[in-house]
Amino acid sequence: MVNIAVFASGRGSNFQTIYHKTVAGYLPAKIAALISDNRAAGAIEFAREQRIPVFVAPPGDFPSPEVFGGELLRILKLQAVEFIVLAGYLKKIPANVVDAFPNRILNIHPALLPSFGGKGMYGMRVHQAVFDAGVKVSGVTVHLVNNEYDAGPIVLQRAVDIRECRSPEEIARKVLAQEHRAFPEALKLLLENEYRVEGRRVIIRKIKHDPH
Ligand code: GRF
Repeated sequence: MVNIAVFASGRGSNFQTIYHKTVAGYLPAKIAALISDNRAAGAIEFAREQRIPVFVAPPGDFPSPEVFGGELLRILKLQAVEFIVLAGYLKKIPANVVDAFPNRILNIHPALLPSFGGKGMYGMRVHQAVFDAGVKVSGVTVHLVNNEYDAGPIVLQRAVDIRECRSPEEIARKVLAQEHRAFPEALKLLLENEYRVEGRRVIIRKIKHDPH
C-alpha cells in the first residue's frame, strides 16, 4: 500500500476518481493528504467528507519557492508520503520537492503533449486553443513531473476524437471523461510495476502479480 498525496486547485473530479479507485482496491494506494493552494477548492470539501487530511498551502504565503517547497516537504514527511499526484493543480512544484521525489510525481494534462502545453496552458485555455487550431484529435497526457511545465516523460496518453465537437466546452467534457480513465490507469502502472526513465521515455517492466 503506497501512501500518496494528491495536490488539487479546483473541483477535484480527478482526485475523486482516484480516491474511489483506492477504496475499490484497484489502486494499491492510500491517500494520506490532500494539498491545495486554494482554500475554496471543491476538492477540499470532498477530502473532508472522506476524512482525508487536508493541508492548504498558498504559494503566495511564502517568501520564496524554496521556503514554500520546504513547507510542502514538511507536510509530505509528516504524512509519510511516497508518491505525489497532481490532479488539476495549477501551481509550479518547487524544485526542492521535485528533487525529493524523483520520477515520483505524476501530472495530468488535458491535451496530447507536447502540443497545447506549457506555462499558462491549463483548463479551458487548453481546449480553446485546441478548438481554435481546428485539430480533429485531442486527448489526455499523464506524465512524470520535472522542473519544467508539462515537459516530463510521458507515461500514458489517450486520444479523443473531437471532429463532432462544436465548442471548447464539448471538447473539455469528452477529454475529462478520458482523464478519469487514463489517470488511474497510469498510476496503477507505476505503483504496481518497476519503471525507469531513459531520456524522455518511461520504461515499465511489468511484474507478474500472484493473483492470490
Ligand atoms: C483537468 O482538466 C485536468 O486535466 C487539468 O485540470 C482539470 C482538473 O479538473 N489539470 P478536476 O479538478 O480534476 O475536475
